[in-house]
Amino acid sequence: MEQTVEKKVIFSGIQPSGELTLGNYLGALKNWVKLQDDYNCYYCIVDMHAITVKQEPKDLRRRTLEVLATYVAAGLDPDKNTIFIQSHVPAHAEAAWLLNCNTYIGELSRMTQYKDKSQRYGNSILAGLFNYPVLMAADILLYQADLVPVGNDQKQHLELTRDIAERFNNSYSPTFKIPEPYIPEEGAKIMDLQEPTKKMSKSSDNPNSFILIMDPPEVIRKKISRAVTDSLGIVKYTDEQPGVKNLITILSAITGKTHEEIEKEYEGQGYAQFKKDVAEAIVGELAPIQQEVKELTTNKEYLESIYKKGAEKANYAATKTLRKMQKKIGFIPLSK
Ligand code: TRP
Repeated sequence: MEQTVEKKVIFSGIQPSGELTLGNYLGALKNWVKLQDDYNCYYCIVDMHAITVKQEPKDLRRRTLEVLATYVAAGLDPDKNTIFIQSHVPAHAEAAWLLNCNTYIGELSRMTQYKDKSQRYGNSILAGLFNYPVLMAADILLYQADLVPVGNDQKQHLELTRDIAERFNNSYSPTFKIPEPYIPEEGAKIMDLQEPTKKMSKSSDNPNSFILIMDPPEVIRKKISRAVTDSLGIVKYTDEQPGVKNLITILSAITGKTHEEIEKEYEGQGYAQFKKDVAEAIVGELAPIQQEVKELTTNKEYLESIYKKGAEKANYAATKTLRKMQKKIGFIPLSK
């Protein structure tokens, strides 16, 4: 007898709140591409998350389409994956409300990202920033996701998602799958080029700290040549040399070479050639992506066809879970 095994569901998303970095590409997108044949993947552009801090409307519009174009240019096939824009699926906001009424203020107050960000924004913290992990829980739970590829900074939010799901399942009846974090075998966590003990982030004040996916070659070369290393002069993958370690991670993620192979290759050579090679590897990897992003962003009709199809598929799956939630909570269905 033929057996059909349902593919496991993966959900992840990126905020269109700034230009995407090499960290987004090597840490997330490049790995997502590897999952598209074996999993049922939902990749979202989380515009509703982005507005938890103030956004210029025209920038938000442009970046949302740019992130969509970058997903596709990085190799995500719109026919294999459900690629969609969060605000096109109203179930996210509706489910987030229902989950908000099953989440404690105490839990949200313990989120370290909220604590960090609220310090940065002083007394203009929006309620949305506080509630954001609940929206993230809605994103994940609506699709009955098995696995969620996230970086370390999002682990606590995923843990909260699991707590909320378990609580809902216990107070009503089993409704949600309990999602697990997905940690790729070779998780490329790309660090800040100036402070290599921090994660590379587009929100850093110093543009030499990060490489943008759309940075031109000469900018990439300059930023890598200025990347912080150390005075040891040895290309070695070790926590004692966080700058060098980060550059090895980058080179390894792009070329597929192991850390040991890279260490061997640069034995006794210092950093000059090594840095040059890292820069050229990045330039070469990003060139075709940049070219395609440029082409795609001028092709608004094609982008529209992708997000329309994605919204349709996502709406179907999300609404199914939302209706279950509403019914269990005690809401009267509009139609049977
Ligand atoms: N909060 C995530 C971030 O800032 C983005 C995100 C929103 C997300 N919803 C998600 C990631 C669901 C994974 C799953 O990076």
